[in-house]
Amino acid sequence: LMTAAVAALSVTGATGAMAACDEGEMVIKFSHVTNTDRHPKGIAASLLEERVNEEMDGTACMEVFPNSTLYNDDQVLEAMLQGDVQLAAPSLSKFEQFTKKFRIFDLPFMFKNIDAVDAFQASETGEAMKETMSRRGLLGLAFWHNGMKQMSANKPLISPSDAEGLKFRVQNSDVLKAQMAAMGGSPQPMAFSEVYGALQTGVVDGQENTWSNIYGQKFFEVQDGTTETNHGVLDYMLVTNIDWWEGLDADVRDQLATIIEEVSTTRNAESAKVNQEAKQAVIDAGGEVRELTAEQRAVWVDAMKPVWEEFVEDVGQDNIDAAQKINE
Ligand code: LMR
Repeated sequence: LMTAAVAALSVTGATGAMAACDEGEMVIKFSHVTNTDRHPKGIAASLLEERVNEEMDGTACMEVFPNSTLYNDDQVLEAMLQGDVQLAAPSLSKFEQFTKKFRIFDLPFMFKNIDAVDAFQASETGEAMKETMSRRGLLGLAFWHNGMKQMSANKPLISPSDAEGLKFRVQNSDVLKAQMAAMGGSPQPMAFSEVYGALQTGVVDGQENTWSNIYGQKFFEVQDGTTETNHGVLDYMLVTNIDWWEGLDADVRDQLATIIEEVSTTRNAESAKVNQEAKQAVIDAGGEVRELTAEQRAVWVDAMKPVWEEFVEDVGQDNIDAAQKINE
């Protein structure tokens, strides 16, 4: 009896959003890997869920599964192609199997801040990127911001040479592997949900991520400190299965597209603020944060920027030039 009661409770608990799903409503599952509060993606996904369930009540019902509870990023795109999930927002680094065009976002020091990233994404080139995977069955609906990445390790990182010989967890991206190698580090691709444990047990020595992820996953607890390098960007593409999307009734698709557009614009404008709050929360929780002088940061630029050369063909010199122009 006890077991049954607990099981029933946990079903209700895990599917709070599902309670909103009525008979006959189309269920839209959205799987992602981060926490939900103090996180640009977590907040955006929850807002999307709230608005769909309110404004499309009777027609559609969204269930968000955060924290890798349904799929990790390696699995989610396959699951989407199988029709098991309808929305996901993996980081742009996680689309390697589908397109090499997104590599421009992983190149270190390509964009000076998230506003520059936003402007590039809004350009014709950026807009076209949403459709680069359509032959492979995926359609990009919107870019979602997280923010700039910082670097942490089990020892202080002031100069990139401090990273020499250390193992760094990276997302599974060739650019990020090359970036860590350029510092003399050893890149270890790993799923997001495994990073805290790997840092804690010493399987890896360090990692790079945004303040919201460093806070949300509590990486600062198991690192010596975090250096504010702002060396790269971590952004997302909200994606769907193109066949599913095109199979929707036009009025349903239009309503959903409008909600997505509004949520994306609203939350993208807040992403930098959310990361600043997460940074402050790391400090408040006792995490060590190290800022770099302009001279110190220039050494990181010199160490990492040569990585661009390896990937010019994938991303296009014209796109690099366009991104640099936006930085001016
Ligand atoms: C990571 O794997 O570090 C990130 O892509 C996680 C996320 O979704 O922000």
